Amino acid sequence: MTKSIPHGGSLVNKVNEKADYTSIREAVALDKTGLSDLELIANGAYSPLTGFMGEKDYNEVVHHMRLAEGHVWSLPITLPVRAEEAATLKPGQTIRLTYNGTTYGVMELQDIYSPDQETEAVKVYKTKDEAHPGVKKLYDRGGVYLGGPVTLVRIPLKDQFSTFYLPPAETRKTFEKKGWEKVVGFQTRNPVHRAHEYIQKAALEIVDGLFLNPLVGETKADDIPADVRMESYQVLLENYYPENRVFLAVFPAAMRYAGPREAVFHAIVRKNYGCTHFIVGRDHAGVGDYYGTYEAQEIFRQFTDNELGITPLFFEHSFFCKKCENMASTKTCPHGIEDRVILSGTKVRELLREGKTPPPEFSRPEVVNVLIKGMRVTV
Ligand code: ADX
Repeated sequence: MTKSIPHGGSLVNKVNEKADYTSIREAVALDKTGLSDLELIANGAYSPLTGFMGEKDYNEVVHHMRLAEGHVWSLPITLPVRAEEAATLKPGQTIRLTYNGTTYGVMELQDIYSPDQETEAVKVYKTKDEAHPGVKKLYDRGGVYLGGPVTLVRIPLKDQFSTFYLPPAETRKTFEKKGWEKVVGFQTRNPVHRAHEYIQKAALEIVDGLFLNPLVGETKADDIPADVRMESYQVLLENYYPENRVFLAVFPAAMRYAGPREAVFHAIVRKNYGCTHFIVGRDHAGVGDYYGTYEAQEIFRQFTDNELGITPLFFEHSFFCKKCENMASTKTCPHGIEDRVILSGTKVRELLREGKTPPPEFSRPEVVNVLIKGMRVTV
């Protein structure tokens, strides 16, 4: 049985599809990120959160990476609206949360507050540069935040790869059925390339199972679309992983590109899904040059093992070494930079866009075929 205890002690469950919301007049429209956050709060992925953050939690998270009651939490989970819309609402009201005109949630509106978004940008993203996709989205989404507990009254329909959407209660059951005590979580927003495979398999040598948990919520426009990635993960697993040692399910959150802070968030959420370990490689959740190669590993030093409750597994920047004829890192390979094939998701995307086939040192041929086929349709 998985040894992981949900963050805060128990899995939150705020799903009630029988809730009667028909008499609630006030409604706020969610964007895609808001809808996915609503679902992830309600299904326990964001335990111990029970709603969108009020001002007290928000300030603690931004300044100290903690919730008001002390649990480690590194990213604000907020519901932003425009000032004009906020002016029509009052604390104490119950409101519906809609997406494309359909009601998905109900919220007890406790808090309406105007955050200092520049401070949020600098603290969370370490920059206020609007060229950073997370910062741009922060400024675009609205300047007043609504806080309060939520209920998910309708589970959003999944029109693609629907069998891979599992709430934490289900992934936990799956790990238990498989008899996995130690489960390592792997976050990715890219097709799995050889460096990913190398660090996943290195971790698999010391744990019982790998939870491949690609993020499929909103990503920036030049990331490879989730449906193409999902196909690529499946061919990779079929051809290169023992079936009883890997489990694939999606993480439907939006990507924030917040580097170190997002690495902590990713780890805690995977703990809620039932993982005991979590892989953090080079520049985890980074974008451009905003974060140092190992900053997303160093941030974990600020927390005790106990308060994190999940063990991060750190990996060096891995590459293919032509002399070793193998994947390696500077920890395992003595050869020079001229012998290394340096790979990254960005590089794979660049090659594909230029119509070039990534070499086998980069990506497995089965994966490359899926990507080439997928990119023909989407680019
Ligand atoms: S992201 O969601 O963290 O942005 P990405 O697909 O780029 O996704 O990386 C997934 C995981 O693999 C992260 O933990 C990242 O640090 C790690 N990683 C990616 N490339 C390498 C590499 N060449 N060497 C070591 N770790 C890597």
